[in-house]
Amino acid sequence: MRLKGKRAIVTGGARGIGRAIAAGYLAEGAEVFLADLDGAAAAETARALGGKASGLALDVTERASIDAMVEAVSATGPIDVLVNNAAVFDMAPIVEITEESYDRVFAVNVKGLLFTLQAVARQMIAEGKGGKIVNLSSQAGRRGEALVAVYCASKAAVISLTQSAGLDLIHHRINVNGIAPGVVDTPMWDAVDALFARYEGRPIGEKKRLVGEAVPFGRMGRPEDHVGAAVFLASAESDYVVAQTFNVDGGNWMS
Ligand SMILES: NC(=O)c1ccc[n+]([C@@H]2O[C@H](COP(=O)([O-])OP(=O)(O)OC[C@H]3O[C@@H](n4cnc5c(N)ncnc54)[C@H](O)[C@@H]3O)[C@@H](O)[C@H]2O)c1
Repeated sequence: MRLKGKRAIVTGGARGIGRAIAAGYLAEGAEVFLADLDGAAAAETARALGGKASGLALDVTERASIDAMVEAVSATGPIDVLVNNAAVFDMAPIVEITEESYDRVFAVNVKGLLFTLQAVARQMIAEGKGGKIVNLSSQAGRRGEALVAVYCASKAAVISLTQSAGLDLIHHRINVNGIAPGVVDTPMWDAVDALFARYEGRPIGEKKRLVGEAVPFGRMGRPEDHVGAAVFLASAESDYVVAQTFNVDGGNWMS
């Protein structure tokens, strides 16, 4: 039980990687708050996971929603861990990128992540016993991709924010680190596959199969592949790990 007695918030925890991390934290003895845009799905996931899990509605693009979530969780006890996992994906050739798409991706993936981190960090500082913050970046944040400029830039920004926040908040014994997954079989990748089908003229499912075959490990990632790193970064074992982003991608990227 490496997280016994810890209380953790997982944004975007209703499904995919966030859900798997929440399940992993519960198994390690934590109480977990699944905070998701789809509050009903978060509550349903919490029921399905059982144990000390609860679901909350959260829109990370709304400061009032972030504040209400932090207030609701901290009213029942301290906040020890935040997993900034909520994100959205979009893609288009450079000449077709819309301002709307750019604004939405950056509102959730960058601004939403920063201000959720800020609100939780303020609470952790007020509680005075440090904490752990884990930001979900991506291999997309390590380099550009021809059709994925905006999402790649948003995930590069997450790596940068992890570095800056990590250096600042370690003075309060709050460790900020990140995980950069590769290609993971979640509902997000079904949407990614459909967009590649449109822009590259492929049959549905082909891009997903090809990216899976190209992973050195030999298959796409599964949500549960990220649990080990997420537990480590939330536990006392990572106290001396500061401002890092770990690749958990089956060998897709080395840095
Ligand atoms: N799936 C992949 O291949 C992959 C690869 C690299 C990185 N990642 C990253 O891992 C994380 C999880 O990805 P996933 O594949 O599980 O995604 P997903 O789309 O399956 O789940 C994302 C969750 O975030 C929630 N969400 C979206 N907007 C929100 C908002 N404004 N406020 C609160 N919640 C919101 C959604 O409702 C959903 O439950 C993301 O940060 C993603 O960028 C995923």
